[in-house]
Amino acid sequence: MDTAAINRELLDYVDRSPVSFFAIRNMADELDRSGAVRLYEGERWELTPGTTYYTTRNDSSLISFRIPAVWSSGFQIIASHCDSPAFRIKTNAEITVENRLVKLNVEKYGGMICESWFDRPLSVAGRVVVQTPEGVETRLICIDRDLLIIPHLAIHMNRNVNDGYKINLQKDMLPLFAEKTAGPEESGTGGGFIGLIAAEAGVAPEDILDTELNLYNRTKGTLFGLNNEFIAAGRLDDLTCAFASLKAFLSAGPGRSIAVHCVYDNEEVGSGSRQGAASTFLSDVLHRINAACGGSEEDYHCRLLKSFMLSADNAHGVHPNHTDKSDPTNRPALNGGIVIKYSANQKYTTDAVSGALFRKICTAANVPVQTFQNRSDQIGGSTLGNISTIQVPLLTADIGLAQLSMHSAYETAGARDMEYLVRASGWFYASSVESRGDGCYSLLLPDSIKE
Ligand code: CO
Repeated sequence: MDTAAINRELLDYVDRSPVSFFAIRNMADELDRSGAVRLYEGERWELTPGTTYYTTRNDSSLISFRIPAVWSSGFQIIASHCDSPAFRIKTNAEITVENRLVKLNVEKYGGMICESWFDRPLSVAGRVVVQTPEGVETRLICIDRDLLIIPHLAIHMNRNVNDGYKINLQKDMLPLFAEKTAGPEESGTGGGFIGLIAAEAGVAPEDILDTELNLYNRTKGTLFGLNNEFIAAGRLDDLTCAFASLKAFLSAGPGRSIAVHCVYDNEEVGSGSRQGAASTFLSDVLHRINAACGGSEEDYHCRLLKSFMLSADNAHGVHPNHTDKSDPTNRPALNGGIVIKYSANQKYTTDAVSGALFRKICTAANVPVQTFQNRSDQIGGSTLGNISTIQVPLLTADIGLAQLSMHSAYETAGARDMEYLVRASGWFYASSVESRGDGCYSLLLPDSIKE
């Protein structure tokens, strides 16, 4: 695998995926190009062995799966998320300031480092729902130009800006959008924000029924460091894992298990939506696969005990300026390999069994692993694995890649780690696991895989 090439491919995907709708559409396009068959949840599923399928929910979550010619085991699943903390543009967004400037009203989605959103070119992406002669339709839009900036207050007007200034989301974070050029009786910003959105969607402003639009960071991803050993971009959490697992899924040969590639929306706000990890999406899809392959409900339950899931979401690497913030004995390094995450309070699903089995897969794949645990005096974050296993009780390990500046508008990670994750994911998809009784497990590994 060519490290630089795979990272350029990743950064291109990230740049083209400013919000979850685009992250999913770009994946669907990739699946279409590979010959996968699209299924809709609202239609009957008739599935043929030897075929790759995918389905989406809300256009913002996606599950793809490949049925082997002979299905003798369960499901090998890698789940990640495609949403990132960002600012959502509110309804009636325009606020005129002193009859001169127009700013937009926004609220936060997820927990971001607000500081990182100041003073950089931003634009708008998301979906609009429009009225057409045929009915109601959703359209994705991405305004591909520098459109907005959230300007900092000058240090002269806020002398404590570097001493822990408390950001007020309603006051400090509203982006500057336009100059109001016309007089009070005229149309102001010339159709204004909705006019701009309507033009982008190719409809008249009055045909826009509703919108779901985010700000996104315009700064493109890049490789950096003396030997280009690091990557930086917006949304690396968790598009790195979503991208790496799709790449491995597309190239994985048929195994004994059904390979499942699952990407959820709404992880950053707790997963509690129709398309999030707390939803029935995965459960519904696995049930339907089982039924379409002639399995009974009894078979479904047996299959789950022959299954293994990776909850793949990035981890905190040791920070060069804050080495004390990491646990004393579990210290993930950028480019140090795949991070296995543990948490006694079950925020991460990895247990001794899933940890052991995943380590064996990585050994076979010749991929280094490292471990993450929170410092005991820190609460840490959470992810989608333990939420998803409430709906589908699978043996699961939480893994990810080490990164810095998580939830900044521009995050940093290791360039070599991507390759590790693609390779380990390929071996994972080609493996199968079987629980014998309760406490004994067989892991069937391939001799080699196509890369
Ligand atoms: Co994440």
